[in-house]
Amino acid sequence: MYRINTNYQKLPGSYLFSTIARKIAAFTEANPDRPVIRLGIGDVTQPIAPAIIEAMHKAVDDMADASTFHGYAPDLGYEFLRSVIAQQDYQSRGCSIHADEIFISDGAKSDSGNIQELFSADCRIAVTDPVYPVYVDSNVMAGRCGEYDQETQTWSRVIYMPCTRENTFVPEFPKETPDLIYLCIPNNPTGTALTRAQLQEWVDYANKNGALIIYDAAYEAYISQPDVPHSVYECSGAQTCAIEIRSFSKNAGFTGVRLGFTVVPKELSCGGVSLHDMWARRHGTKFNGAPYIVQRAGEAVYSPEGKEQIKKQVAYYMKNASAIKQGLKENGYTVFGGVNAPYIWLKTPEGMTSWEFFDFLLERANVVGTPGSGFGPSGEGYFRLTAFGSYENTLAALERIAKL
Ligand SMILES: Cc1ncc(COP(=O)(O)O)c(C=O)c1O
Repeated sequence: MYRINTNYQKLPGSYLFSTIARKIAAFTEANPDRPVIRLGIGDVTQPIAPAIIEAMHKAVDDMADASTFHGYAPDLGYEFLRSVIAQQDYQSRGCSIHADEIFISDGAKSDSGNIQELFSADCRIAVTDPVYPVYVDSNVMAGRCGEYDQETQTWSRVIYMPCTRENTFVPEFPKETPDLIYLCIPNNPTGTALTRAQLQEWVDYANKNGALIIYDAAYEAYISQPDVPHSVYECSGAQTCAIEIRSFSKNAGFTGVRLGFTVVPKELSCGGVSLHDMWARRHGTKFNGAPYIVQRAGEAVYSPEGKEQIKKQVAYYMKNASAIKQGLKENGYTVFGGVNAPYIWLKTPEGMTSWEFFDFLLERANVVGTPGSGFGPSGEGYFRLTAFGSYENTLAALERIAKL
């Protein structure tokens, strides 16, 4: 008789965003005349930039002609895309990353969930708390997190690095030494980024302790401060202790197109075994390549016109971020983030939990955000608003909040 992977049963209740969706649906049904403004889920709203659409159209036409048709893509991605990434995202910033160290995928969610397969079942993971939930959940599924404590909302084998206003949301080295360290910088949900000096300390820590950093840079395009590195490989020694994951979702609006990549440097090895070879083996076995049309679209992200156009989109969202930050401050809220990330992290009003504030905002202002506690226990008492809405909706939401 077959048996299931019982680790799945350990995962607590329904996923954050399905609970939110259920609450919005109930509210809308009961109040059809009160339109809701959604500043909750981290999905983009701007259409794909014209230069990218043009490249996609051309790639569609390529598929219609036997001489330019493309079947299965190479497992690791087309050379045309890998080399432009290596050149523009890395070498131009002084990072010695080459095309053959880049693995094209269908997005950062899959890569950040799958990468844990390379590591032994008894590895201890460390996560910043709060953080994007995929890192912990994917390790729970693999049986690496121990038992869940409903009371503290923590897993017995996960090392949490609380990020709160007391430490300006910057993770501190944990008391126990982890094997795998997930860093999401700029951070979802707090919007915090690390300076080059701060990130260098993490790289040094990982090299010294034989730990591996899994660096999720999905929000890299939103970095505005010059002392914040765009890649972990801007720090010396990162090639021997870090894997970097990137996405085209937030910089170029590919949330529905699907494209991302992971960098596994060739120098990265564990007990003489190359992680690059392992990831290549995994990719080759379980992934059949991102579509040709999508990879051509990805290439256009790096064209002069594409770069100009997506820069404007990022600026549009960051204008929303500034408006939210400013508007909330004027109304007496304590706000963080919104400088190097499209997320605003605010302290809930005195005495309100994250979910209480969610209900309050939904019912009284008809505005949707995300309860901080959904991102980890240290997110309790905080709330996330995203800058991904339209400017008009963002201002309308702020007007409603001001009237509360
Ligand atoms: C930190 C982080 N990593 C990865 C992703 C997913 O990216 P993708 O759309 O490339 O799968 C998200 C999406 O919200 C995210 O916040």
